[in-house]
Formats: sequence, C-alpha cells, structure tokens
Amino acid sequence: ITIRREDYQPYPFLIPTIELEFELSAERTQVRSRLVVERRKDVLISSDLILNGEDLTLVSLELNGVVLSQTQYTLTEATLTVHNVPDRAELVIVGTCQPAQNTSLSGLYVSGKHLFTQCEPQGFRRITWFADRPDVMSIYRVTLRASRSEFPLLLSNGNLLQQRELEAGRHEAQWHDPFAKPSYLFAVVAGDFVCREHHTRTASGREVLLQVYSDVGTEDQTEWAMESLERALRWDETRFGLELDLDRFMIVAARDFNMGAMENKGLNIFNAAYVLANPNTATDGNFQAIESVIGHEYFHNWTGNRVTCRDWFELSLKEGLTVFRDQEFTADMMAAGLPATEAASARAVQRIDDVMGLRLSQYPEDRGPMAHPIRPESYQEISNFYTATVYSKGAEVIRMMHTLLGEQAFRAGMDEYFRRHDGQAVTCDDFINAMQWALQQTAPQKNLDVFRHWYRQAGTPRVSVQLQHDPVAKRCTVTLTQDCPAVGVEKASPIVKQPFHIPVTLGLLDDTGKSLSPQVTLELKEASQTWVFDNISTRPTPSLLRNFSAPVLIDYAYQDQELALLSAHDDNAFTRWEAGQEIASRKMIALAQAWRQHAKFEELDPLLAKSWSASLLAKDLDAGYRARLLSIPPSHAVIERMAHMDPLAVLEVRTRIREQLGTTHAATLLNTYQANLTPGQYSPSPGPAGKRALKNLALTYLMASKHPEAANLTQTQFRHATNMTDRMAAFTALIHDGSSELNAPAATQFYEDWQHDQLVVDKWFSTLASSPRTGVNELTGLMAHPAFTMRNPNRVRAVVFAFCMSNTRGFHAQDGQGYHFWSDQVLALDAINPEIAARLARVGDQWARFIPEVSQRLHAQLERIATHPTLSRNTLEIVSKALSL
Ligand code: ARG
Ligand code: ZN
Repeated sequence: ITIRREDYQPYPFLIPTIELEFELSAERTQVRSRLVVERRKDVLISSDLILNGEDLTLVSLELNGVVLSQTQYTLTEATLTVHNVPDRAELVIVGTCQPAQNTSLSGLYVSGKHLFTQCEPQGFRRITWFADRPDVMSIYRVTLRASRSEFPLLLSNGNLLQQRELEAGRHEAQWHDPFAKPSYLFAVVAGDFVCREHHTRTASGREVLLQVYSDVGTEDQTEWAMESLERALRWDETRFGLELDLDRFMIVAARDFNMGAMENKGLNIFNAAYVLANPNTATDGNFQAIESVIGHEYFHNWTGNRVTCRDWFELSLKEGLTVFRDQEFTADMMAAGLPATEAASARAVQRIDDVMGLRLSQYPEDRGPMAHPIRPESYQEISNFYTATVYSKGAEVIRMMHTLLGEQAFRAGMDEYFRRHDGQAVTCDDFINAMQWALQQTAPQKNLDVFRHWYRQAGTPRVSVQLQHDPVAKRCTVTLTQDCPAVGVEKASPIVKQPFHIPVTLGLLDDTGKSLSPQVTLELKEASQTWVFDNISTRPTPSLLRNFSAPVLIDYAYQDQELALLSAHDDNAFTRWEAGQEIASRKMIALAQAWRQHAKFEELDPLLAKSWSASLLAKDLDAGYRARLLSIPPSHAVIERMAHMDPLAVLEVRTRIREQLGTTHAATLLNTYQANLTPGQYSPSPGPAGKRALKNLALTYLMASKHPEAANLTQTQFRHATNMTDRMAAFTALIHDGSSELNAPAATQFYEDWQHDQLVVDKWFSTLASSPRTGVNELTGLMAHPAFTMRNPNRVRAVVFAFCMSNTRGFHAQDGQGYHFWSDQVLALDAINPEIAARLARVGDQWARFIPEVSQRLHAQLERIATHPTLSRNTLEIVSKALSL
C-alpha cells in the first residue's frame, strides 16, 4: 500500500500526557501505559480511538477505570481500536514485547547485555500501543524497573526524578521530560556502562551535566566525543543563539544500531562507531565523523525536537536543515584558529568532501527508480526514505537559501522560524515562509515562490551554459538554460515540471587566470536567462558553480586549455579542484571506451599528466587540499557519467592511470611522503590530518606503481605507526596493492593485534572485503570467520556492503557470481532486519544503466528477490520500484 502526502489528516485526539511503567527484561518486558486522551473539537472524524501496535501481546485494557470487554475494542496485527471513547478519557493499556527476539533493531531490543530503543520513525508502536505519528505530542513520565545486577543503569528522556531499591534485587528509576514530544523521540536504555561526565554552563549561565555512556572497558575512548559535544553546544549558542534546554544531556553508545545515531530528547543513542575513538583505534576520518554526528544529533534538539515534523513526508524539514547545520559546524571547526588563507582552504576541503558524497550517493538516486523530491509525495515504507536525497540534497536546498539570503538574513529567518513554531509539528512550507519573511525584510520585491519547486520535483537539473564574447563591444553574455526531465515516479504522473530557482555563482577569468569581473551569483529562475557583462576585452574562461552553489549538473563545452587554466589558477578553491577532476573524468571515460573496444590502454593523456603533476608540485597549497587535487576521481563517480556504465573498464583505466602517475613521478612522491610526516603527538585537526592524507596518498601511488621502495616503506609504516590513520593506510595498501607475500601476513598480524576491539575488527573486515583480490569465494571464507555475524549491522556493512558497494572487481566479476551473492544476502538479511536488507537491495537500483551483460544479470537477481515468497514491505518497495522501470 502507498501512503500519500495529500492524504494527511490531523489526529482526532490530543494525548497531553503519557505515563509509562516498564518491567524490563530481555525475554519479556511488560509495559503499562496510561494515556490521557482528549477529543479535538476542531477535527471531526469517527469516535473511535485508533492506536498503532506491532509485535505486542495485550494483557489488559481499561477505559476510565473500567476493564474493557472484547466487544469494546478491536485488536489487529497493526492497530488497537477503542470504540466509543468519551471526549476526555483515561486509557490504561498493559502489554508485553520480547526484546531478545527483536532482530530488526526497531523498538526495544537487546545489544550486548544492554537494552536499547530505536523509535524513529515507527518503532514506538513495537513497545506499546500509541498514536505513533510525529504530530501527536505528549509529556512523558517514565518509570523503569529491572534487576539491579543485570541492569544497574536505567535511563530515559529528560530529568531523573528519583531512584529507589525494590525487593528481590530489583530497582527503579523515574524520569520526567518537561517538553512535549512525539513518540519517535522517546528512548530507554538499561544496562551496565561506564560514564564520562562534564559539568558546564550554557550561555545564559544555567548549569548542565553532559554524560557519555559506553561499554565497560572503553573509558579511554570517549574523550573526543565529550569534547565534540561541548564544541557543538558552544557553536549552536554562538552561530544560532540556541541553548541546551535540559539540565542533563546524555549520549549512549550501542554496538548494534541500524543507522548513525538518534536524537531522542536528552538521551541520544549512537552507533558506537560514532562515539568511540582514540588515536590508537580511530582514523582521522573517524574523528571527524564523530564530531559531525555528535553535532548533528545535538543540533536536532532545536531543529527536529523543539520544532518537529507534521508527518514523515516532511522529514527533510529536520534532516536537510540539520545536515546543513552539521556541515557548517564542521567547516567552522576546521577553520577555527587558522589564518584566513588556510581557513579558506580548510573550508574548501570540507565542501569538496560533502559534494563528493552528494554526487556519489544522491546523484545516482536522483536518476534511478527511487528518485523522489526532498519532500516525497508518496511512500510504501517510510524507513526507505532516510535517503541521500532527503538528507544531503535537503541540506543543499537549505544551503541555497543561505546563499540567496546571506548569513544575516538566514539567521533572521531561523529566529523567526523558532519564534513562530517552537513546540509545534510543522511542514517545510512553514520553514520557507519564515525564510521568505526574512528575505523580504531587506528585499521586499523578492520571494521564494519558484524556489519551492525544489521541494516538489525530483531529479538533478542540468544547466547548460552558453558564453558569447563581442571583442568590439567588449561585452560578454552568459546564457543559462535549465532542464530536468521526469524521473522515477514522476514518469507515471501527468505533471509538467516547472523551472527551479538556481543560484549559479560565477567568476570570469582572463587567460592568465586573473579575475575579469567581481564574482556574482546569478539567479536562474526561468527555463533560460541571459546576463550581460561589460568591459570584458578578451574572451573569458568562466569559473562556474563556485563553491557548488546548487545541486545541479553543469554543461559547458570547456576547451582542454580552459580546464587547465582553471585547475592551475582559479582562486576559488572548489572550482579549481573541480576543473582537475573534470579533466581526469573526461579522460577516464575516453580511455574506458577505448579499453572496451580493443582492450588497449592508450598513453596517458598529456593534459591530465600535466595538471596532476602541477598539483603535486604546488607545495604552497595546504596538504589536505592538495590530497584532494591529487586524487583520481573514484570509479563510481566516473561510471555514473557513462551512457552505458562499464565498471570493470573504468576500474582498469583508473588502476593504469595511478600506476603510470606513480611510475612517472616516483621521486617527487617519495619526497612528498617524507615532507609530510607528522612526528610527535597525534592530533586529528585539519593541519596534521591533511598531511597524513597527502603522505598516505603518495604511498598508495608508489604501491600502485610497484616502486622498489614502496613495499618496504609501507611495511615499516604498518609496523611502526603510532596512530590508526597511518596504520590503516599502510594496511590497506598492503592488502589492496601489495604482493601476495605481503598481504597474507599483514592480514594475520592486524587481526591478532586488534581482535579485542570490535570497531577495529570492522576495519579489518572491510579492508579485506573491498580488496580487488577478494572474490565471492574469498568473501564466503570471510563470512565463515568466527567473528562474523549477520546480526550486527556494522559487521554486515564491513563485509557484505563493502563487497557489493566498494569492491568493483569482486562484485562485478564476469562470471556473475557477485550478483548472485548479493541477492542471497538481501534475502538472508530480509528475514533478520528488513531496514538493512532494503538498503542492500538498493545496490540493484541502477541495473538498467549498465552495459547489457551486467544489466541482464542484475535484472535476473532482482526478479529472484522480488518473487521470494516472504519479503518485507521494505525490500519489496525497493525491488518492485527497480523492476517497474
Ligand atoms: N534521525 C536520525 C538522524 O538522522 C536517523 C534515524 C533514522 N532511523 C531509522 N530507523 N531509519 O539523525
Ligand atoms: Zn538527523
């Protein structure tokens, strides 16, 4: 069944308060729920009260103190309907659930020896019957009871009211959350943890307690998380004037978790991978990801919790906005304390990484069977819509408003949004209205009418650029034309797509790379528009879409030497990087086509060789930025641009290019390696992290080219590394590019050294699973390893997802075994954890765009999945959309 946005109906009752009493145990937990329900006078539907409930056993039901007989209510697999409810009533429901049997990790579940909840989007109904939708907001009072020895800590949202001992070794804790919230923000944690605490004050001087809970034995891995949390607190105060509103803020690390983390009010629950880190166990990338996810969840306290979503179609209201906020947080942290030029390049590095992520995950989504607007119009299973589109493209849409309004007006719009909607469940329109109000304070003639189309239309718009120059009139005209054909579900609908409002930030350079006119942001709002630039005496090279000012594709017939000019001289760090990537991508596509036709690798293109070596020699540039300039575009990004995607051909040319560059520039690469060592104490900050990125990139080129010194250098680094970033870089190079004498001992050694640390074991698994040496047979061997389990999502991601998504050679092996392996795993996972299975099923999304031999085989496997007799709604939606293309 399909749920449609236009079918929204308000819930006919208010539920101002809910009191929950838990008798917690892994096998059988009893929940007693006391609801106060009030009929809404303004909404008249039936008199029945319909509550959601799944996988629950009903024990008893009372309405206003009277036990209900079976004629007074109706219980189904998914709902509990209470008939003839008076205008104001008290309902007491007692039921049970079975956390130890819950492998979906939605609702109340067991992880290790602990109990955790995950309620977003629809997990609360797996704990007790309730109006499990975000527009029903209640004040929660929660009593938790459990065995003290099994569950010494009992946590829920808000403030701890009291704790006491009970008989028979049991104890109790009572929590009260003073803020009304939807059920998806409810949380319970029970278990035995170590806790890092920090007392601090908010900007207005209120004392608050910050806590990070994690497994016993990990107390030396939570310092960075706590520091990140405090930085997030300070940043939201200074940049947005938003303070923590509770006396206590808790983060708990869970080993088994479907996603990254969850912003439950005052009690954030995190995938342990985004909490635990120290220099010995975590890489620079891990440190940065932790800071960013901690920021993200913390920022949800305002954008998501204080102002929440009316229904799940509005998910991007909180997610797009909060991703934008976490990206800005990371950029500000990266730039903090640096001199202006270094700060700009640190920001550019962050922007490059965010844009790469968008292009690798969202662009393909936007042209595949799951394409949807950032505010979807329909869905079958909402868990399938926690997508790159809702999150990353959603953040780009917010960023465009920030670009159009400017920092000051954007901030005024945010203030106005909270002034209007604090405590409410609202829509994306409400957000845009607040922003439009702020825009019109200084520019009354402007509006966001056309801009709103970003919320209604899917697909990545293509902007073609035409540039004309008249040397006599010294006039340059730039014409932008946009186009966005119907994608995904749009194809079946008769709606004509409207133009988007697209900010295109542009510079014009002369042939020495100097700016010919000040940078401008053109606002394209119609199908086609033209702008005129005067006093331009020579034909300029346009620097287009600076800072990636809009999530679009740019079509401009750049000459090779224009790209070379931009890649050497553009003073916008983003477009400078982009020009180098464009050169490499164009050449890679041409080489891949040639490879496919006559299995021959043509000489490395001189333009690519030249621009690459210029970046290698540009020692005045920041190391982290230089590492981005010197990275050959990932195969996936290149494949994505081909009319008929040929993964093995692209992999082949990418390997050859890296080999050749490594061979030709060995001496400089060795110098670069030596010049970027980071001796002394480890710090994850952008300076040293950038140096490590550059140094380790140099090492991979040397390894790829089989340079005689490379193996030694890599082995030495592997053995003597003083941090996990360097150790992992060397380990990956040995496994992926080393000879067979090198890689087996490295694999054994690494496992022996780190088998006690689950997150490092995940790194071990994923390095092996993504190695070009690993085919289905080797992978099956890996899955027989005693440390492998299908029950732990992080492990499944490290092995199964890493193989299917990051091991081009293994997954696309010509015998087709990789595809068969994939469908096996989708089906196996579907019986355990539908949300994870559906995510893996999306590997098949792009089947129709591959070269025919790949396409046919993927299609056959999709059909195999689709015709499986029992399939979750999650996976069914993904494969049926893929097949209905
Ligand atoms: N709101 C969480 C976050 O972005 C994600 C939770 C998603 N949950 C899920 N079951 N898909 O921060
Ligand atoms: Zn989020």
